Amino acid sequence: MDSVGIVIARRPPSESSFEFELEGDAAPGDFVEVPVEAGALVARVAGVRVENQYLAESGVVRELRLGLRMPSAAALASAEVRVARAEALGIVSGASVLPPIQPPSPGSRVYRAAPETLRALLGLAEGGVELGRLWRHGLEVELDPERLFRHHVAVLGSTGSGKSYTCGVLAEEALERGLPAVILDFHGEYATLGERYRVRSVKANRVKLEPGSVSPDAIADATEMTDVQRDLLYLAFDEAEGPSLEDLERAAERVAERYGFKRETLLAVLRRLRMLKAQRVFTGEGEPLYLSEGEAVVVDLGLGLPGGATRALAGAIAWWLFEGRRAGEQPPFLLVADEAHRLLPQDEQAFSKAALRLVAREGRKFGASLVVASQRVVGLDKDVLSQCGTKIALRMDSPTDLAMLKPLLGRHARLLPRLPTGVALVAGVAVGYPVLVEVRKRRTSHGGSGAPLFAR
Ligand SMILES: Nc1ncnc2c1ncn2[C@@H]1O[C@H](COP(=O)(O)OP(=O)(O)OP(=O)(O)O)[C@@H](O)[C@H]1O
Ligand SMILES: [Mg+2]
Repeated sequence: MDSVGIVIARRPPSESSFEFELEGDAAPGDFVEVPVEAGALVARVAGVRVENQYLAESGVVRELRLGLRMPSAAALASAEVRVARAEALGIVSGASVLPPIQPPSPGSRVYRAAPETLRALLGLAEGGVELGRLWRHGLEVELDPERLFRHHVAVLGSTGSGKSYTCGVLAEEALERGLPAVILDFHGEYATLGERYRVRSVKANRVKLEPGSVSPDAIADATEMTDVQRDLLYLAFDEAEGPSLEDLERAAERVAERYGFKRETLLAVLRRLRMLKAQRVFTGEGEPLYLSEGEAVVVDLGLGLPGGATRALAGAIAWWLFEGRRAGEQPPFLLVADEAHRLLPQDEQAFSKAALRLVAREGRKFGASLVVASQRVVGLDKDVLSQCGTKIALRMDSPTDLAMLKPLLGRHARLLPRLPTGVALVAGVAVGYPVLVEVRKRRTSHGGSGAPLFAR
């Protein structure tokens, strides 16, 4: 094992933290281990200081300049010491992890944590989801697929930080295990999964969906109905003789008359239903969506439809899949919602929000898993975010988003503004402690690099 230093006692070590004089290479965030009676005490480097007794007093620089005190360069260099502060995480003893209950003895050697120690501490699983490598350690981070997917995942980060790429990695991992992945794709970034996996690409409005197979909320949100228009629509829904838009139109006419709705209200509702027909939304055309093992379905949401209709379509697809899963008509699946802020606005009514909340809250019981990716944290539905058991946080610079994430990621959140692309802070149920992971390379190419701005 690589020795990186020796425990010192200038501040006496406690069971929760200690200092060591650095001899090797260690940086904040690195994991180290010290042998103690109960096993290997694992700690994380919280900070490193460089000290030099010759330069420890103020005024010394002026004295140097005046030639009053002149340590040689060699003396200066040899007086330099680097002291690391480490925070204890746990004691690994065989395969079990105890809380940190023993301080290390001063004079003990500190080692870079061994792969098997870290694997035990973090609860990594052999053959698990290959997310990437532990940053600066190289250890393969393989996450227990049950814990990762069953409890949903949020991928967060500024634009260009690697969210879609990471979603692609997660989709690949699901597909490798035979778990069907459905990807809500706004930018045509995911069809490249077809280089290695079975992929079906469908336009969102070519998935067979009719009013009767979704909730009236989807129709109301898609067409931005007012409250009174919604009232009429809900009554018409109960009254409709069949599942189609035409059945709904006829029912609307009947109930408007029966309950004395104003003519303008009826006309407004009919106009909206016809608008859906023109946009070919909820017309019942196309193939019904049934998932099959190991297959990806890439749902193209970039159809240029109004936001309400796009959200309603995405929501209706999530709803259809979840209800199908609940009824045992669909296999367990992974639903990936990239650009999730568009589907999960915090302060707006949206059917996509209701549907994704349903999957987030109830999916665990039925094997319906969710990955949401967003460049915003503020403005994203808190319900869904809090249901995501694992947070994969990439580079993020917005102070308001960072402030929001701080309670979830603790002081590690301060690392986020300077992370390189593709490096993520992973925290939550899938890892024992927050860790920095260099997300692995894709097995298929990433479809989202964007067109070059300048031709060469
Ligand atoms: N783990 C990684 N390894 C190698 N390259 C990566 C990795 N993650 C991201 N990249 C590269 O960084 C660029 C941006 O990544 P990506 O498209 O995933 O960003 P994004 O966060 O989804 O951005 P946006 O918010 O604009 O959609 C891509 O060109 C991609 O190839
Ligand atoms: Mg993206």
